[in-house]
Amino acid sequence: MNIKQRRTIRKYTQQPVSDELLNRLIEDASRTQTMGNLQLYSVVVTRSEEKKEQLAPAHFYQPMVTQAPVVLTICADFRRTTDWCLQREASPGYDNALSFVNAATDALLFTQTFCCLAEEEGLGICFLGTTIYQPQAIIAVLELPELVFPVATLTVGWPAERPRQTDRLPIQAIVHQETYNPFTPERIDACYKKRESLAVNKHFVEINEKQTLAQVFTDIRYTRKDNEAMSEALIATLAQQKFMKTEGFPGGIIPSVVERRPEVLECDVVRFQNKKEKWVAFVGLLDNLPYEIFTGLQDDEEGIAIPKSVMKGFIIKHYDREGQKRYDFQFVNKRGYKTTIEGLSERFNPKYWDYAKLISGVLRYRMPIDHVIRLITSLQLENDTMNSWTAGVARVLKKYLPDSSQMFEEEETE
Ligand SMILES: Cc1cc2nc3c(=O)[nH]c(=O)nc-3n(C[C@H](O)[C@H](O)[C@H](O)COP(=O)(O)O)c2cc1C
Repeated sequence: MNIKQRRTIRKYTQQPVSDELLNRLIEDASRTQTMGNLQLYSVVVTRSEEKKEQLAPAHFYQPMVTQAPVVLTICADFRRTTDWCLQREASPGYDNALSFVNAATDALLFTQTFCCLAEEEGLGICFLGTTIYQPQAIIAVLELPELVFPVATLTVGWPAERPRQTDRLPIQAIVHQETYNPFTPERIDACYKKRESLAVNKHFVEINEKQTLAQVFTDIRYTRKDNEAMSEALIATLAQQKFMKTEGFPGGIIPSVVERRPEVLECDVVRFQNKKEKWVAFVGLLDNLPYEIFTGLQDDEEGIAIPKSVMKGFIIKHYDREGQKRYDFQFVNKRGYKTTIEGLSERFNPKYWDYAKLISGVLRYRMPIDHVIRLITSLQLENDTMNSWTAGVARVLKKYLPDSSQMFEEEETE
């Protein structure tokens, strides 16, 4: 088939796709270039109704999954290569993000070659991007082992439709000569003018009650909320499949970085001893992990006096009328009344405050807690009292080490 005639096919006839044809197409497609000729991919063929039904929810029940005679799940695969290395006295180092990208590249190149060959043969194909939206579900159904990750799904069958062809942007939108040529507003207009003027797209905007076609994408089809939630699941699944290291994170889950501090954070109140003095730490939590820390003397005139029973509360970011930022601590007493201690920063010695700010910066960017503790305990501050303070802060943070972490021996805490 001429590439200029190609289109995605989402409806198929009942005519089967023979094993012989499928195997030939897969074999021919394996002429695709791959990294080091390692062929870092595998193809899982699904023909049974039962498995298709199981895969359907992972693809948001797109009807092609159960309707197509064949569903192919193409996976980034470093498992086979790793097993080969282990069996040949070679030590593989492919349990990392770079290896995932290499394997995903191989898998997607293979996928596209297969699509071209299959379409040439007259078959109809639909590429399902939903594969990476809920990969954990596909991994479970297909029993994919560690170092195998699904990156593409193709529904394959003989076409039972001939849909209209979709438009394409002009090549000026995709080609840059020598260096990247930034998009001025005029260039953006020129690139998208034709697409936006198509009746089908105007209709799309109208039925979705939007002002622009771009809003259909941002507000309905691919929203920030969905992208962020699915990104988190994607990262967690990459870790589960051992393409990312997560030692040091509780439950092996890498928390996402939230740069803009939420206005209110839950916090733990942790008391600790600094030399002979009694101190208190307020540990702001996001996703149950320390996000920031404030420390200060307890019961001092200048310090903080809170009832012994208070173990939890909230740290609230507050702006006064002049726009000055401050942090308040709020807790609820036994009778259910709220008490707010205003201006945590003003109550503390500025030197400790500055060091706590640095530690909070590190926590905010989610350095694993064991590394944060190592960093803090390696600091050589100007006097014994400050060094004792760092030891106290390190002790406070040990509370948040994942259970599995045996890196630090339990110390007695005051
Ligand atoms: C990464 C990727 C993800 C896609 N995901 C889906 C999908 O989940 N469902 C679907 O019906 N089509 C999907 N498609 C097909 C596109 O919608 C289609 O290629 C595009 O609209 C252009 O239409 P055409 O292929 O007919 O030229 C996907 C294609 C790609 C490359």
